[in-house]
Amino acid sequence: MATGTSLSPVFPLGSRLNERGVLEIGGCDALELARTFGTPAYIVAEDDLKARARAYTSAARRMHPEMHIVFAAKAFPCTAVLALFAREGLWCDAASGGELYLALAAGFAPERIVMHGNAKSEAELRMALRHRVGLIVIDNFDEIERLNRLIAEGEGGDRGTDGQAVLVRVNPDVRGETHEKISTGQADSKFGFSTAQVGEATARVRAAAGLSLQGLHAHIGSQLLELEPFRRACAELVALGDFPVLDVGGGLGVPYLEDQRRAPEVEDYIAAIVEAQGGRGGRLLVEPGRSLTANAGVTLYTVEGVKDNVSRWVAVDGGMSDNLRPMLYGAPYEAHVVDRFGGATECVLAGKHCESGDVIVRRALLDEPRPGDVIVTPATGAYGYAMANNYNGVPRPPVVFCADGEAREVVRRESFEDLTARDRPGAAAEAI
Ligand code: LLP
Repeated sequence: MATGTSLSPVFPLGSRLNERGVLEIGGCDALELARTFGTPAYIVAEDDLKARARAYTSAARRMHPEMHIVFAAKAFPCTAVLALFAREGLWCDAASGGELYLALAAGFAPERIVMHGNAKSEAELRMALRHRVGLIVIDNFDEIERLNRLIAEGEGGDRGTDGQAVLVRVNPDVRGETHEKISTGQADSKFGFSTAQVGEATARVRAAAGLSLQGLHAHIGSQLLELEPFRRACAELVALGDFPVLDVGGGLGVPYLEDQRRAPEVEDYIAAIVEAQGGRGGRLLVEPGRSLTANAGVTLYTVEGVKDNVSRWVAVDGGMSDNLRPMLYGAPYEAHVVDRFGGATECVLAGKHCESGDVIVRRALLDEPRPGDVIVTPATGAYGYAMANNYNGVPRPPVVFCADGEAREVVRRESFEDLTARDRPGAAAEAI
């Protein structure tokens, strides 16, 4: 709990309570942000994103001769975020045609894009080939045939003798401790080839004239708070052979609550992977998503009503349309009144959606909340905006970047008109 001007470390770097006890993010007063941009709103501290990107790139540079940090766009697929990371020299993991489109629009050089997906469509593969992405990660046998056929048909133009660089995704059967819905490395997973199939997969890729096998990929899961599973997964890949590229995926966990088990430092994570790779030559890739963005962002809400029955219910103007994580994974969050930190009234922070599961924080300690209060939930910078939706016709919130006391909206709030923008003319007419 915050005392004086200290804040829970789950807030963005540089956040503080000002002299009036009001939360500031990137030097911007949270009450003013709520007044200017409305609520709910995703507020992002730009310096925090930069600092985390630099922690990764500097550790990589110091510890490995050729290591690259590949931002997993799915964590925060927003042009401004992607563009910031492109400027910081990161690469980009795109898991769909849409993410590839965003990555290109944000300025990532195609050769720095890694194309993912366990069910890539022909159109997505064509798009990746046409843009000459740096690497395509092959998930299954069908994809080997399909990709090779598209190249043989001339998609992406003449490549001379150079094939499309690809990695083979391996499922190393390493399970880290995390929610089952975001665990991917176990044997019975929809992703990649089992270690028993890797030999055949690599042989088939080698035999495909249009493809150039560069190495292996694995991603064992997300929000992992221990380094051991990463070490094991990396060692499994190394044991499968010597390749010019190893991509060990993402997954480093972050703190969501002040008293949560500590997440490993980026330095220690990179060191563990470099060590497990055994100091071999070749290129080493990691694909962090959450650990680059989660703690850089907070969400602001406004209290609409407070009621007491068995619990004290504090209903706010957002919920499962802007943050699905509590409902999908039982994910915990902190909540505070932005100008009265340190509250002690136990409340249920509920959203505005028409179902009982729409609870953002089950046990929030708030200072006597009342209508009009602005509430902050920290650590919403990853997979919040990404999984936002229009349930109950609720327009999605804006994204606001804050730095040095200046705030700028990088994504506007959706309007009601946006809700009908895709309707075909005459959609509301009576059928004939
Ligand atoms: N690489 C691959 C191939 C992935 O599938 C993922 C995440 C990442 C990298 C980035 O992982 P991270 O560093 O963010 O853990 N919606 C869920 C998270 C799903 C993660 C899916 N894959 C959540 O809100 O917790």
